[in-house]
Amino acid sequence: MLLKKNNMRRPIIVGNWKMNNGPTEARAFFDKFIELKSEYEKNGKEIEVDWAIAAPYISMISLMDEDDAKYIPLAAQNVNENKSGAYTGEISIPMLQEFGVEYVIIGHSERREMYNETNASVNAKVLAVTKTLDSEDDDYIIPIVAFGETEAEFESDRTLEVIETQLKECLVGLNPEHMKEVVLAYEPIWAIGTGKTATPDQAQKVIKASREVIAEMYGDEIAKEVRIQYGGSMKPENVKDLMKQPDIDGGLVGGASLDPESFFQLLTYNK
Ligand code: 13P
Repeated sequence: MLLKKNNMRRPIIVGNWKMNNGPTEARAFFDKFIELKSEYEKNGKEIEVDWAIAAPYISMISLMDEDDAKYIPLAAQNVNENKSGAYTGEISIPMLQEFGVEYVIIGHSERREMYNETNASVNAKVLAVTKTLDSEDDDYIIPIVAFGETEAEFESDRTLEVIETQLKECLVGLNPEHMKEVVLAYEPIWAIGTGKTATPDQAQKVIKASREVIAEMYGDEIAKEVRIQYGGSMKPENVKDLMKQPDIDGGLVGGASLDPESFFQLLTYNK
């Protein structure tokens, strides 16, 4: 299999809109964002990270344009592991492929807490999505697998134990070549939407430990290549310090991705 997206841990920043920005708001975002991006490119600069927007399915069309210069990479916020059938309310992997979606978030803590997703169901989705990596066409989808501890687990110093179980159960049975392409997103639940960010040191410590779990499962070489994002109140004011950490390869951003200006600032944090 060819190396797909993962080019030596190129940083990856993904906006997760959650259930925000319907089709009209998404088009307004698109217009402003494209304006900011073209201005930036006119000055000879370019976005130097991989990026995408995880929009609600129904808003994705508003982020598409026939003009290639206005291309916005898309991510989905969830997917069903079955190809088709009687699964009311669900969206399949082939449907996302047909729409050109490049990434899918799997196992977000909100889905685990509110929609009963478990490590086992996350694993089934990851296994199904990574099968697309064998596609000879350009229609593969990269899973972004989210994990992280609750506030109570954090307070009782159980973070490392909890994330180890999550990673082992969510990522069991993957083809090692596929594992390299998977993006992981460490999102401490107590930092999501709360304005409380993990300090860069705290985030680094857990993300480094996560990489060690991957090394135990898939070996050092693969662990060194896997990209691991931090998520939880990431914003233009703290992105640089978080991204300076040696094991943090990007961000999964909620609130600060809803506004085109702050999302654009995040994507150009290194300038
Ligand atoms: P916030 O950036 O709003 O804290 O959300 C983080 C998140 O859950 C991204 O998936």
